[in-house]
Amino acid sequence: MVDSTVLQRLEQLRKELHYHNYRYHVLDSPVISDAQYDALMRELREMEARHPEVVTPDSPTQRVGAAPAEGFAEVEHPVPLLSLANVFNDEELLAWYRRVQQLLGVNTFNLVCELKIDGLAVALTYENGRFFRGATRGDGVRGEDVTPNLRTVRGVPLDVTAFTETPSGNPIHRIPARFEVRGEIYFPKSGFQKLNEERIAAGEPPYANPRNTAAGSLRQLDSRVTASRPLGLFVYSLGYVEGGGFPDTQWGFLHHLRELGFPVNVGRSLCSTPDEVRSYFQRWTADKEGLDYGVDGIVVKVDRFDYQQHLGVVGREPRWAVAYKFPATQQVTRLINIGINVGRTGTLNPYAILEPVNVAGATVKMATLHNEDDIRRKDLRIGDWVVVERAGEVIPQVVAPVVSRRTGEEREFRMPDRCPACGQPVERPPGEAMTYCVNTACPAQFARLLMHFVSKGAMDVEGMGEKLALALIDAGLVKDVADVYSLTREQVLTLERMGEKSADNLMNAIAAGKSRPLANVLLALGIRHVGYETAAALARHFGSLYKIRDATEEELGEIPGIGPKIAESIVSHFKQEGNRRVLDKLAQAGVRMVEEAAPKDTRSLPLAGMQLVVTGRLSSMSRSQAEDRIKELGGSAGSSVTKKTAYLVVGEDPGSKLDQAEKLGVPTLNEEQFLKLLENGVAPES
Ligand code: IVH
Repeated sequence: MVDSTVLQRLEQLRKELHYHNYRYHVLDSPVISDAQYDALMRELREMEARHPEVVTPDSPTQRVGAAPAEGFAEVEHPVPLLSLANVFNDEELLAWYRRVQQLLGVNTFNLVCELKIDGLAVALTYENGRFFRGATRGDGVRGEDVTPNLRTVRGVPLDVTAFTETPSGNPIHRIPARFEVRGEIYFPKSGFQKLNEERIAAGEPPYANPRNTAAGSLRQLDSRVTASRPLGLFVYSLGYVEGGGFPDTQWGFLHHLRELGFPVNVGRSLCSTPDEVRSYFQRWTADKEGLDYGVDGIVVKVDRFDYQQHLGVVGREPRWAVAYKFPATQQVTRLINIGINVGRTGTLNPYAILEPVNVAGATVKMATLHNEDDIRRKDLRIGDWVVVERAGEVIPQVVAPVVSRRTGEEREFRMPDRCPACGQPVERPPGEAMTYCVNTACPAQFARLLMHFVSKGAMDVEGMGEKLALALIDAGLVKDVADVYSLTREQVLTLERMGEKSADNLMNAIAAGKSRPLANVLLALGIRHVGYETAAALARHFGSLYKIRDATEEELGEIPGIGPKIAESIVSHFKQEGNRRVLDKLAQAGVRMVEEAAPKDTRSLPLAGMQLVVTGRLSSMSRSQAEDRIKELGGSAGSSVTKKTAYLVVGEDPGSKLDQAEKLGVPTLNEEQFLKLLENGVAPES
């Protein structure tokens, strides 16, 4: 028997988690942090582990997926899933509208405009408020039972009785005994891009598009795979309802669905004239690129359900709704050639040079081709007619060749064995999909590295655009990234079109970069596989660029999130003499090399609580390097000598600080003694 207080807490946790899930996935407005959510989830998981007999299939913990199924059972849809007739221009829309007017015998009626989500349709059945079964559309009459997979999709409410009141404060109305809602499962664009980047990095072929990937993810026999994908849901129509109690208009129904906890797309609008529909269409034609999911048009629906009933269905298409499609995002054009770009980390990136073609309002002349394997997998040949797509992704894609239009003149692509920018041999490491130019002095790599170095999130040098970076390289003023810090105002002024004011601004922006956080500096170095997250983790762990430089692969590998590939890349970066020199130059220029990591306990470090001041020139390191070393050991570096100063480190040509120290009786260390202090952590007797 499970204790009643345990049962109560379980119930409360589930309710809370359902509610926060709803805030996050439906309202898009969470009220607790991810960490707080995780803590609630952990508590529930632990309680359920102790009392497995109380685990219910609609518990929020059950979204992780289960072991593979044998296959999918067939589901017959009690009410078939319909298709939609398409219109492609305003005249066709107006013709549809006129016909509806005529059939209804009324002049004005409300229309609901919704976005047409580019995913796959599913039917979700609820019994007594609990998610009971989910099926794919299939052929509209029969689909597949994918219930365990749909349970893993965060937007699918598992229990619509979870809230006793709606977020707007209204009590939940009677929940019908059984109802079916329909909606679209989609793969978010951001998640899709991330998944493909991971696949490319792992040498696997990227997926073709978010829609097919959504379908593939939902039709997995192992629901744990589905659970690992960030699938989303929007619901938009009623299948059927038993036991009544639903609104009698589409607009009201959408509102009601949202109150019950279903994700309903926000891009909906209640219109009363074709003109309003037109402006809705125009608005979304422009705004759709900003959405994190694909939409391929709008759906216009007659609002009143009794009108819908009256208008009826012809074949598989209702007369009460129509899809107004956005202009085609795919076109066919010629693949003239395949060019190679040299990336910042030396990657040879193939790209398609296309016969210019207008795709959904933009001229496309180039498209990314990812890597050699991808070109081979798609069987693209130079001279082919190819399908080009500009679907949401900012960068156009080459989808496939039109094999039937081949003449035999087409040529297969071969990755060059020398870098097109510097002529040095290239390498393709075993197990990797990318080919690299390994010459660190390669000019193409350097221009990109410099752009990366000064970019936001790295050293963030405002006003240093591509043109200026190239001009500095061409003028021979910048040969490695650290040279940015030895630029003088006079040198900058020699550049074309550079005025006094811009030169001053640039010099200030460069100087401001010196105080960027350690993670930014590390990111700026452009080490292969070290993105911001990795850089931040390394900075947090080591708190010092010197320590990162000197770390072994084993030491690096101990940090969560740092795999062998990243560790190897960091070690090999700092093994190169040129890269070590750049680091020294940056340190010399006063760029941050050390950062006291906030959570790190510095109390046990040898210089903890000690303030040291450095004066004069040291022969083995710059002043800022010396100060960094002091901070690394837990001390602080002061700028003037006070009674609190533990030691004054005295180099050559010391200034008035030495007098001050003598006056206050502050002990001094010469360079040799200072080095011993750094090495041993204890000051030698002076
Ligand atoms: S209503 C007659 N609303 O488009 C009712 N469908 O081409 C048909 N779709 O199978 C469904 N977004 O998969 C409707 N807001 C939306 C939609 C939508 C996407 C899909 C759905 C349907 C297909 C019809």
